[in-house]
Amino acid sequence: MKVRVHGRRRHYRTVDFDARTNEVVLIEQRKLPHYFEFTRTRTVQQTARAITNMTVRGAGAIGATAAFGLAQAACAFTGKTEPAFARHLLRAYDTLAASRPTAVDLVNAMNKVRAAMNGDHTIAQQQRFALQAARQFADDDVAHCQAIGRHGVKLIKNGMRVLTHCNAGWLAFVDVGSATAPLYAAQAKGKSFHVFCDETRPRSQGAALTAWELAQQGVSHEVIADNAAGHLMQRGEIDLVIVGSDRTLGRTGEVTNKIGTYTKAVLAARHRIPFYVAIPLSTIDWNLKSGLEIPIEEREDEEVLSAWGVDVRGRFLQVRVANPASAACNPAFDVTPPDLITGIITPRGIFGPKELWRERKRLNG
Ligand code: MRU
Repeated sequence: MKVRVHGRRRHYRTVDFDARTNEVVLIEQRKLPHYFEFTRTRTVQQTARAITNMTVRGAGAIGATAAFGLAQAACAFTGKTEPAFARHLLRAYDTLAASRPTAVDLVNAMNKVRAAMNGDHTIAQQQRFALQAARQFADDDVAHCQAIGRHGVKLIKNGMRVLTHCNAGWLAFVDVGSATAPLYAAQAKGKSFHVFCDETRPRSQGAALTAWELAQQGVSHEVIADNAAGHLMQRGEIDLVIVGSDRTLGRTGEVTNKIGTYTKAVLAARHRIPFYVAIPLSTIDWNLKSGLEIPIEEREDEEVLSAWGVDVRGRFLQVRVANPASAACNPAFDVTPPDLITGIITPRGIFGPKELWRERKRLNG
């Protein structure tokens, strides 16, 4: 991603690793769009906390962060014996796996790191392989998003108005994004189009993050309240919907994504508007047999009861919106059934949701 900071455009990644200091380097997403800052995590516990508190968020980005977190734990080991190293790694794996439950990229990424360490190797070799595998996961994440862009670009026609939900862009991955990849590829081809960003309460990833990215990239866009999409669809003002996913079931084609995605898919079907989901291969879960088995994260009441922003002096504020005596129900994700999905844009092509299982050899990467 190219970000304009103090008048200069520079390239950044959402997640990176500093091998010199054994730190994971993250864009501090909780401060965007008001401040563009980086933060560093020194231990695997700090890395897991950064995932839980959404300093870093988005399926691909937390996958890469967990991969680097596991490598970070491996490299921090100073003991001598193999069994102690194995116990240390397992503790780190469990800590990271528990940091957020819904996105499967997180465990898929760590399993890649673990697989790279397998075999008859010294501890020093395993530490090196862990870091190489984490870097490879991050590079693959970028390459997958670019390939999604190449396949998805044909869906974006001149003059289109595209709706997206939450943030499935640069910041949700190491770079490029999934739902945004076809948009950025279309922009590079000189196509003109307009994007509606769902605000995406309660954390407002659409209003804060997607809108910031599109502004940085010079893409025409407007933020809409979450409740506005149905009205715009009814008036013929939305031509296409593209969203990301945190876990797509390879066996059934069910798509888990940010809460509110299912509502938009129902609306799109009602108005016969194509509804696409863009995913890298690390988002596919080949094991679960039903969407009902997907662990849906429940987050704190506070997110629904409050709102966050900056005041006119740029100071961060939390303000109470809801009745202070009320509790809240805050499921962070929902599951969209395959019959509401027009197609899944993957790095290997666009498939119907029910075709994923048949194509599993091509998609199992
Ligand atoms: O709670 P978040 O902000 O991590 O949720 C992110 C989303 O729901 C994205 O749409 C999703 O991760 C798909 S794009 C990686």
